[in-house]
Amino acid sequence: MDKLAGTFRDPDVPRFRWTQFEAQAQEDDGGEDVIAGLSATPKTLPARYFYDDRGSILFERITRLPEYYLTRTELSLLENRAREVAAVTGPCELLELGSGSARKTRALIDAYDNKDLPLRYLPVDVSAGILKDSSRGLIDAYPALDVWALVGTYEQALAELPPRELDNRMAVFLGSTLGNLNSSEIAGFLENVHQALPGGSYFLVGLDLQKPVDILEAAYNDSEGVTAAFNLNMLAHLNERFEGDFDLTKFEHLAFYNPEEQQIEMHLRSRADHEVRLGALDLQVPFAEDETMRTEISRKFNLPDIIETFARHGFAATQHWTDPNDWFALILFRSA
Ligand code: SAH
Ligand code: AVI
Repeated sequence: MDKLAGTFRDPDVPRFRWTQFEAQAQEDDGGEDVIAGLSATPKTLPARYFYDDRGSILFERITRLPEYYLTRTELSLLENRAREVAAVTGPCELLELGSGSARKTRALIDAYDNKDLPLRYLPVDVSAGILKDSSRGLIDAYPALDVWALVGTYEQALAELPPRELDNRMAVFLGSTLGNLNSSEIAGFLENVHQALPGGSYFLVGLDLQKPVDILEAAYNDSEGVTAAFNLNMLAHLNERFEGDFDLTKFEHLAFYNPEEQQIEMHLRSRADHEVRLGALDLQVPFAEDETMRTEISRKFNLPDIIETFARHGFAATQHWTDPNDWFALILFRSA
């Protein structure tokens, strides 16, 4: 069930379906994006490679760290506002992009469940293990919920969504994961979401806002070193996936705020001159001592600017909410 492309049903769990897209970000993709990133100057790696099973578990640990204010701030916004969201949308299936553990999604599902509305949930994630676990957890927790999990990239899932069964659909993109995309990736992503949703659909987005640099930098340099382990785990994932020989002791974690780009950047810095081989990609990569390779951007948004960006792509903000510190925003858009 894990690696075959296609749609699967388990006769014992009739409320659960599972679609695995072909040649997607599991074991069998070509790694062209890795080759391009490691051949560029300066080197970069695509952030989606953080998320193998171990990376997803490390990210979950990050979300519970005292310095990582994002998750708890967004969770409390969702707990306070989910009923208003459900009142605006009415009966509506939830299509969550990059769902991960779906821990915060429960606040939303509760709001629809409490209103006795029919419930249908379509989570999309490249990380198969956490998607399966979170789907099973939700099926057990909500007897009225149907789950159709889509294992693959946003692009793959949005291009081949299961047909809508309820009156309306709401895409959900939480955690400020939009911030991990650069401007042109955001444009392409919003275009894909817009094309996949009929006019009148909703789009609920959680975004991290600009704030003092010390708070931002602490969130990505936690004292327990979990973020460092998450960053380095990308190399272990690439080793497994592409027969690589990255030596994790030869790299160190680096995270800082880049004020011009208004983004946190995570890098891995090489501690020595050395070479790395990725056998499955037929790639030999030289690293100089102190050379840095960027593994992630995490943009910090200005609310009016990002609302305008969405408007240019056919999404009108109907409501938005922020926490008392204005650290994080939850925005409900409607597709034109
Ligand atoms: N929504 C959760 C998880 C955020 S972590 C939260 O707010 O806490 C980002 C999630 O997106 C991970 O589970 C990761 O596996 C998934 N992801 C990252 N890039 C992706 C891509 N290109 N396509 C689909 N899923 C992706
Ligand atoms: C998933 N994403 C929004 C996280 C972020 O904050 O950019 C990933 C992360 N990287 C380091 N810590 C958390």
